[in-house]
Amino acid sequence: MSKVLEINNLTKIYGEGENKVKALDDVSFSIEKGEFVLVVGSSGSGKSTLLNMIGLLDKPTKGKVAIDGINTTKLSDNKISSFRNTKLGFIFQFSNLLVDLTVMENVLLPRQIAGTNGTAEKDARELLKLVGLESQINKRANKISGGQAQRVAIARGLVNHPSIVLADEPTGNLDSVTSEVIVELMKSMAKKLNQTFIIVTHEPEHFGDVDRVITIKDGKAFEGKEHSAMEVVA
Ligand SMILES: Nc1ncnc2c1ncn2[C@@H]1O[C@H](COP(=O)(O)OP(=O)(O)O)[C@@H](O)[C@H]1O
Ligand SMILES: [Mg+2]
Repeated sequence: MSKVLEINNLTKIYGEGENKVKALDDVSFSIEKGEFVLVVGSSGSGKSTLLNMIGLLDKPTKGKVAIDGINTTKLSDNKISSFRNTKLGFIFQFSNLLVDLTVMENVLLPRQIAGTNGTAEKDARELLKLVGLESQINKRANKISGGQAQRVAIARGLVNHPSIVLADEPTGNLDSVTSEVIVELMKSMAKKLNQTFIIVTHEPEHFGDVDRVITIKDGKAFEGKEHSAMEVVA
């Protein structure tokens, strides 16, 4: 087992004075390669803030995020961007596809941004096959269904062979039948590729058994589901 993520004493405070909000409060935990992790908790508890810190989309007020053993808090902004583009994959609630591009072109984007085009087309085709969209490769992204769009987003999130795929409410915009298909797809991709996933959801019941559940409550992290959660002490 190897650690892909280690966060220590992570704290995020938004605003100042009377408007101050402590969105994350001294959170520490680590995640091993290949783990399929759910982050749950009520609205406003700090889930998206946590994901944004791990995704290097925003900086913590205090604490450390290490990915593949590299302490990202020490990196320059330039380094952080290229680190994010090569080490992390993202899946959002809304698939955020570029509608004027084809399915294939959307999946290729992260590779173009990261400048690692060599085998990109072959890898993208392979992933599109795995998510069941081989026949849609040349369709424009505005000509496919919501469920298909989220499959494209999964392929796009994986195309860089990232250390961690981060997903914020990836089924939040889908009906329950499509949600279950997308959940099963993410789980099977995780197994096939030994791919680490960290998924924020308010519908953990759609996910069935997973490796780990982390509950966020008032900015603090607890191991396990809410009713049995214990504070994580790393
Ligand atoms: N950019 C921001 N500026 C100020 N407050 C924020 C910002 N983002 C989130 N918050 C606050 O931080 C807390 C946690 O928010 P968030 O991480 O979005 O929660 P969740 O994703 O669990 O619903 C909330 O009180 C929210 O209002
Ligand atoms: Mg959120």
